[in-house]
Amino acid sequence: MSEQILIVDFGSQYTQLIARRVRELNVYCEIHPFNQLPPVHGDIKGIILSGSPCSVNDEGSPRIDVRGIIGKVPILGICYGAQLIAEEYQGNVLPSQIREYGRARLEKIDQHHELLKEIQLNSQVWMSHGDTIDYLPENFDVIASTSTVRVAAYKMKSTGVYGIQFHPEVTHTLEGKTILRNFVVHICGCAQDWTPDIFIETTVNELRQKLNKGNVVLGLSGGVDSTVAAVLINEAIGERLHCIFVDNGLLRKNEFGTVLDSYKHMGLNVKGVNASDAFYDALEGISDPEGKRKAIGRTFIEVFDDEAHKISDVEWLAQGTIYPDVIESVSVKGPSATIKSHHNVGGLPGKMKLKVVEPLNTLFKDEVRKVGRTLNIDPSILNRHPFPGPGLGIRILGDITREKVRIIQDVDDIFISALKIHGLYDEVWQAGAILLPIQSVGVMGDERTYESVVALRAVTSVDGMTADWSQLPFDFLANVSSDIINKVKEVNRVVFDISSKPPATIEWE
Ligand code: XMP
Repeated sequence: MSEQILIVDFGSQYTQLIARRVRELNVYCEIHPFNQLPPVHGDIKGIILSGSPCSVNDEGSPRIDVRGIIGKVPILGICYGAQLIAEEYQGNVLPSQIREYGRARLEKIDQHHELLKEIQLNSQVWMSHGDTIDYLPENFDVIASTSTVRVAAYKMKSTGVYGIQFHPEVTHTLEGKTILRNFVVHICGCAQDWTPDIFIETTVNELRQKLNKGNVVLGLSGGVDSTVAAVLINEAIGERLHCIFVDNGLLRKNEFGTVLDSYKHMGLNVKGVNASDAFYDALEGISDPEGKRKAIGRTFIEVFDDEAHKISDVEWLAQGTIYPDVIESVSVKGPSATIKSHHNVGGLPGKMKLKVVEPLNTLFKDEVRKVGRTLNIDPSILNRHPFPGPGLGIRILGDITREKVRIIQDVDDIFISALKIHGLYDEVWQAGAILLPIQSVGVMGDERTYESVVALRAVTSVDGMTADWSQLPFDFLANVSSDIINKVKEVNRVVFDISSKPPATIEWE
């Protein structure tokens, strides 16, 4: 990657959002923790300092060598980042008299400054801070104020250094994008040429050089990330890429065949491996959710490793890892960076002793989709709901049997097909059905029944970290419910999950 913006993370909840916004401007950027900064090399055109949950006055608050970077490239400090620069030059940062949180308006703006060009008077901004810059050093100018915050934005004279107290990266700052554009494009001079086409061209070239000999194996899952990774590598090295698609017996109804067919149509060198028996054997008698995850993960690694050994001369393991899995949000309180607990096959690279290649590890999910669209990958794969690695294994509460898998596949298929038919599929972020380990009494015709209960789950979300239950129309739910009970004879009761995350989670296990 060439031209880029460096984002220094001081632990703000919004750091990833800053990166999203910069990339929406077609400018490449990377987030680095404050304590692991790369040297300011020639490709870095500007630096953004993020906010932080800490106060610059806290003992042990996160610090960088501010003077060491000033003058090298333009700098934009946001919230804590702005306070840190001001403090370094003997400004004064104090706890705010009133805690500033929420909407505010820029009542004074000095539009002569490049950063605030085209920003309207009274523009709405989003504040979220406990401290305020009370006194600015002499060589700093205030360039915007709100009714309560005098130093809402500043510029350090005769440098490209700016600070803003509010958050341009959140959508509540209505002209935040313009401010970031002013900084990244007009002040840093970035060319805005980082597009999916360029990404594809440079990545395919890099892959061609990197994977210049030996074979590459990749586990396809039917999801967006592994598919896009496979297509990119396929463009680079063709038949030397060997994809393996494992049927773990816990996929959606007919998914294995349908997805395998679509992969073959895409020209991928893919082998489908039906390993359902191995998974069912490994799962026998296990009811504990983590126990099931472990058994499924372990079996996957064994099956995949066996298959990979059938291919000669394998040197590389390719994975569809994406950027949010790689950036560890800084924990300003210690080294306990957040780690995804859902990493099913994290043990794969270690076990296989192969070199790892991850062509998507600089992209966010929606960027992966954009790249996928540019590569002409079928929308039915690109827009597919997320589906957990352990599949239906964690949607059957309690132990797993073939019969239970068949029941929940039928129920899930009715629900998902109905969402598609009624044009609701794309409004929902993720949906599925859960087989509960209880039976309830019902009546069908004149007969008493004692059958299973299923729960339907549909959520809206941005990234799965938080989620809300989807308010699907009642008549839609009524139809789906009666369809399920009429067609799946082992089910006589359907419930709809109306819990948000947090405090619930998306999956029930
Ligand atoms: P939760 O249930 O934690 O789920 O709210 C958030 C997202 O993660 C998916 N998920 C998993 N994905 N392996 C995966 O690959 C897992 O073990 C796993 N558990 C949950 C879930 O489907 C949702 O998209």
